[in-house]
Amino acid sequence: MNSTDISRILEKHTEKRGRLIAILEEIQDEYGYLPETLLKKVSEQTGCSIVDVYGVATFYRSFSLKPRGKHLIFACLGTACHVRGAPRIVEELERQLGIKSGQTTEDKEFTLETVNCLGACALGPVVVIDGRYFSQVRKSRINQLLNDARNGFGTLHIEKDERIFPVNVSCPHCNHSLKDETFSVDGQPSICVTISSDGQQDWLRLSCLYGSYNFACDLDVRPDSVVSFICPHCNVEFPSTLDCSVCAAPMVPMLIDGGGIVQICSRRGCKNHMLDLI
Ligand code: FES
Repeated sequence: MNSTDISRILEKHTEKRGRLIAILEEIQDEYGYLPETLLKKVSEQTGCSIVDVYGVATFYRSFSLKPRGKHLIFACLGTACHVRGAPRIVEELERQLGIKSGQTTEDKEFTLETVNCLGACALGPVVVIDGRYFSQVRKSRINQLLNDARNGFGTLHIEKDERIFPVNVSCPHCNHSLKDETFSVDGQPSICVTISSDGQQDWLRLSCLYGSYNFACDLDVRPDSVVSFICPHCNVEFPSTLDCSVCAAPMVPMLIDGGGIVQICSRRGCKNHMLDLI
């Protein structure tokens, strides 16, 4: 990546809020990590001090200053997962991969990291592999999970994959269900909300399958822009109380029928999402 490439990335990220994170994310997507030389270029071209750039690059666990493997595994060791046996899951991952947490396998296939919470505490022990959440993981499942990762999760079928499950959600303000039986995404009734971007409003239909990123929308939303989510029933914007841990955009909360909350990032292109069942 040369200076022109960096300039191209900078031009795409003009919004002040979350700009540095979005730039680093894009570099990491391209390289798999954040090379030191590029961090210096980002500092020079954005005017952010090198201390600030390194501060962000080292604060978020999703960034890495070292090259990572092709498949990235996050195993949760937070309190809720810990009491459900997470340390044994980490030991088994380390044993099967032949590495310790924080390391990458020699063949550069896997990097294993431990984290303190992945936002799905009721489903622990939780392991995330290549962005996919796996709940209530047992030692006996690990070999299969690693094989699935090697073979590419893309070949798994949504309708047969029991790790992708439907959630019914409602507006956190008026409690009205957001389920839309008239419009399907992934073969299931969609979640219908109104979104607002650059002064324009339209509907957005999300997949109700937790773990699927499929959606339908008529509004042309610029990549990386932050959109507002509005309830189509009470017309109130969903009240965000949390910033995305990846890109700092507001997280959008929706209530899960039966208890709990699902939060999705409001930035187009950011796939961060959290599930907290009660
Ligand atoms: S403690 Fe593991 S997901 Fe929260």
